[in-house]
Amino acid sequence: MNKILVVDDEKGVCHSFKKILGRRGYDVITAEDGLEAIEKTEKEDPALVIMDVTMPKLDGLETLQRLKALHPDLTIIMMTAHSTSEKAITAMKYGAYDYLSKPFDNSQVISLIEKALADNQMTIPVTFAETTDDKGDKIIGKSPAMLDIFKKIGQVSESDVTVLLRGETGTGKDLIARAIYHHSKRLNKPFLPVNCSAIPETLLESELFGHEKGAFTGADMKRIGKFEQCTSGTMFLDEIGDMPLPLQAKWLRVLQDGCFQRVGGKELVKTDVRIITATNTNLEQMVEQGTFREDLYWRLNVVTVLVPPLRERKDDLENLVHYFIQKYNRELSKSVKGISPDMLNSFTEYHWPGNVRELQGIIHRGMVMCQKDFLSIEDCEWPPQITSTDEKDGDVERLLTDAANILMKRGGVNIYKNGVSEFEHILVKKALEMTNGNQVLTAKLLGISRNTLRSKLDKD
Ligand SMILES: Nc1ncnc2c1ncn2[C@@H]1O[C@H](COP(=O)(O)OP(=O)(O)OP(=O)(O)O)[C@@H](O)[C@H]1O
Ligand SMILES: [Mg+2]
Repeated sequence: MNKILVVDDEKGVCHSFKKILGRRGYDVITAEDGLEAIEKTEKEDPALVIMDVTMPKLDGLETLQRLKALHPDLTIIMMTAHSTSEKAITAMKYGAYDYLSKPFDNSQVISLIEKALADNQMTIPVTFAETTDDKGDKIIGKSPAMLDIFKKIGQVSESDVTVLLRGETGTGKDLIARAIYHHSKRLNKPFLPVNCSAIPETLLESELFGHEKGAFTGADMKRIGKFEQCTSGTMFLDEIGDMPLPLQAKWLRVLQDGCFQRVGGKELVKTDVRIITATNTNLEQMVEQGTFREDLYWRLNVVTVLVPPLRERKDDLENLVHYFIQKYNRELSKSVKGISPDMLNSFTEYHWPGNVRELQGIIHRGMVMCQKDFLSIEDCEWPPQITSTDEKDGDVERLLTDAANILMKRGGVNIYKNGVSEFEHILVKKALEMTNGNQVLTAKLLGISRNTLRSKLDKD
């Protein structure tokens, strides 16, 4: 019979686990604090431990660490009523099998236990490093989707695996990249963010890889690139969809062999950099269109964290609102207490195209204006009249109409062998006109990456 140790200072919790699991034939033993848990584990050798995080004497996370040091193979499930990103991340980092947020229903617990015990048969011992200090910003979220993300951060942070963060703009990819770094072994080494779309293409190669003296006109001195500057550290490569094709090949080599050549150089430079990447573009489509290397795509796709848009995790809204109110209370020396229930309701109905960043902006604006205890609709200029995406939609609509009119004036779609690509050609030209030739803005307007835009322009 499988023996399960339940550790919780609340007697009621231990009792209900005994009842539920006992009925299914498990032998349940209990402990009321961390020290007793360690003692009972020694004596009784349970197959699985379910343990609360907040406990007297020795708290759950510390007990988890000690138990794992003594019994690396032991399967431990943590649970807590006050779930925070930190606790979930730390629990997973210390080697918890999973993390449950109270309240949970019985069937959820039973199926998790069954899965854990089945996995137990095939576990490979893993050792876990010492605890690392955390100085990161808070990531707010208690929705199941965010809890999954916290777990993943905990699972990947200790290793050097390359992580790909995907999600719409403003969902928190930057924040997650930093959280991975803050929980990693490389915390005392540099963290270097590089935004591929913010650096002009002509400079990107030398920015990343450096150059030798005389490599090109104006290269008066040898220059060390970001990959070398960041040795032993963590690089956060943002907007990787905007990395030009020739650089993708060079980057793939860094990922595979850990080496590269400076621009204009022959010497192979070794580098030891942990890479975290992010994008909000459709990489699969780019691979299909030949603007993103397939081998690089597969190399990056090993650990992907999908950050869901705010509209798909509205149970996080209230916590986020309160977090931002507290943040701006501190920054603006105010003492706003909250927002009206009406406003929170209408937040829930809104589709948040700019995600958490948009919410933060609205609260910030409201807090600057607010003279009372509660944020009002007037303070926040809520609901938003024209959001940036609505504007974009308007622009795109205008573009489409213009392009269609031009096509029709020329004699209708039918006279073209390939009407769609002709239409696209006019559309891209019109978009470029509208942005005065700014490729970054044009790509944004059309909802494509700068690389895809370039490939379309190259066809002309
Ligand atoms: N879960 C969260 N808790 C607290 N703050 C958050 C959360 N998610 C995002 N934010 C805040 O929202 C803002 C936008 O987040 P971030 O810059 O991480 O988004 P992003 O996904 O990197 O966006 P982009 O694709 O535009 O670069 C930041 O100020 C960040 O601190
Ligand atoms: Mg970002």
